[in-house]
Amino acid sequence: MNQEIERRRTFAIIAHPDAGKTSLTEKLLLFGGQIQVAGAVKSNKIKKTATSDWMDIEKQRGISVTTSVMEFDYNDYKVNILDTPGHQDFAEDTYRTLTAVDSVIIVVDGAKGVETQTRKLMEVCRMRNTPVIIFVNKMDREAKDPFDLLDELEEELVIQVRPLTWPIESGPRFRGVYNIYEQKLNLFQPSKQVVTEKVEVDINTEELDNHIGSDLADKLRGELELIDGVYPEFNVDEYLKGDVAPVFFGSALNNFGVQELLDCFVEIAPSPRPVTAVERTVNPDEPKFTGFIFKITANIDPNHRSCVAFCKVCSGKFARNTPYLHVRHNKTMRFSSPTQFMAQRKTTVDEAWAGDIIGLPDNGTFKIGDTLTEGENLHFKGLPSFSPEMFKYIENADPMKTKQLNKGIDQLMDEGVAQLFVNQFNGRKIIGTVGQLQFEVIQYRLENEYNAKCRWEPVSLYKACWIESDDPEELEAFKKRKYQYMAKDRDGRDVFLADSGYVLQMAQMDFKHIKFHFTSEF
Ligand code: G4P
Repeated sequence: MNQEIERRRTFAIIAHPDAGKTSLTEKLLLFGGQIQVAGAVKSNKIKKTATSDWMDIEKQRGISVTTSVMEFDYNDYKVNILDTPGHQDFAEDTYRTLTAVDSVIIVVDGAKGVETQTRKLMEVCRMRNTPVIIFVNKMDREAKDPFDLLDELEEELVIQVRPLTWPIESGPRFRGVYNIYEQKLNLFQPSKQVVTEKVEVDINTEELDNHIGSDLADKLRGELELIDGVYPEFNVDEYLKGDVAPVFFGSALNNFGVQELLDCFVEIAPSPRPVTAVERTVNPDEPKFTGFIFKITANIDPNHRSCVAFCKVCSGKFARNTPYLHVRHNKTMRFSSPTQFMAQRKTTVDEAWAGDIIGLPDNGTFKIGDTLTEGENLHFKGLPSFSPEMFKYIENADPMKTKQLNKGIDQLMDEGVAQLFVNQFNGRKIIGTVGQLQFEVIQYRLENEYNAKCRWEPVSLYKACWIESDDPEELEAFKKRKYQYMAKDRDGRDVFLADSGYVLQMAQMDFKHIKFHFTSEF
């Protein structure tokens, strides 16, 4: 069992939209053995397997709404890639996916550097000390100076970096990368857009000059010397603690620098890590199966409405047709058709090990964060909800369909599509999202899946704050004073809906013993 678990690498690729996440995923899948690629083939067929447009809506919009899982064997490793939505309005989905991974690869556009979405996702990684590898992409285009980029990465992502490869120029002058880790030179030929040569060169000999010319050779020597002076040697333990991120340069589109990334990744990335539950910490090599639901996806098969709950196996071995305890329902369940995923292909699996992701058919029995065990009363800690950015009242637009609407809202919230707050003053339901698109998805899905119609009404709110205090009297006084702005979240926790930053500041000043949290877990 230990061997099975040790060889697993479960991770996600995260990036600001357009940085090249899809291209990199594609290339990793290619190395996964299915296809032999010579050069940069931008075949739609390959692209299709790498995308996960399961829902109608994302097909219409051409964005990836859902999160899928892709797995392949590479050398002795079993690699599980958890895909994350390409659109930032679905960031919440990505946050949750990050609860199920053991490490992360961040893709950064070499010309644009660190962008907003990357910064936010990195915050989530830092909260969980997730080990991070950075891939600076699009070096075949004019990029920022690599030293500036490294500074930017350190500053913006608040993590120390160590370059493990080094680019030789960029854009039309891009000649390749020097692999500091292996001390090899990888040459890039833009005309053919393929990795032509990997040569072992002693950088202090003329050989280097012969390959890239004296000017660039001198420049490279100087830069490597500088790197040596500025950056301490890469230490895997620091990476595993989440303190240091190794950095690779390349071009995903041209499949350049990707194999180096993958080779290093499987070697240094962690195998499944211990997972914290409320009761105790669960180690992956424990003999008994435990797992939690981190994602629920509807309509994978557009022909009949069905949901799949994605379960991360945290310990032991999951087996088909075996009774497991659904802890929240205190009910035993068997799964006759658990699935594993290969982009759009699903196959039934008989067993899965810690680190794996399995898809369980779901007809409303699961909620994000649910725990499955062999009988132990265990609750894995999910990722906290973050205060939404946008808020709207949701109203019934078809009085004949009240029941359908309520059921729809309930199930969509269980899936984690958005957050629901019920105002305690007037009983109205407020939906909070990260972006406008989520409102559209909710409306679309309520109509298409639940035959219910909703209408949005504006509510001007700034933040949702989960509140707590050691002083119950003050808490009561606060709730009384702010009764119009008090709401309950889905778990019945008190939430203060601040309508402006100023109001929040005043509240913080007036009620000194109340803590205002922007996440639901504290
Ligand atoms: P995403 O999933 O992070 O959103 O990014 P994706 O891989 O879809 O890449 C976004 C765009 O950047 C695509 O171009 C893609 O071809 C391009 N790209 C990715 N990697 C590289 C690279 O290494 N070099 C260069 N020059 N371009 C790269 P597009 O025009 O938006 O799409 P398409 O029409 O090419 O498919």
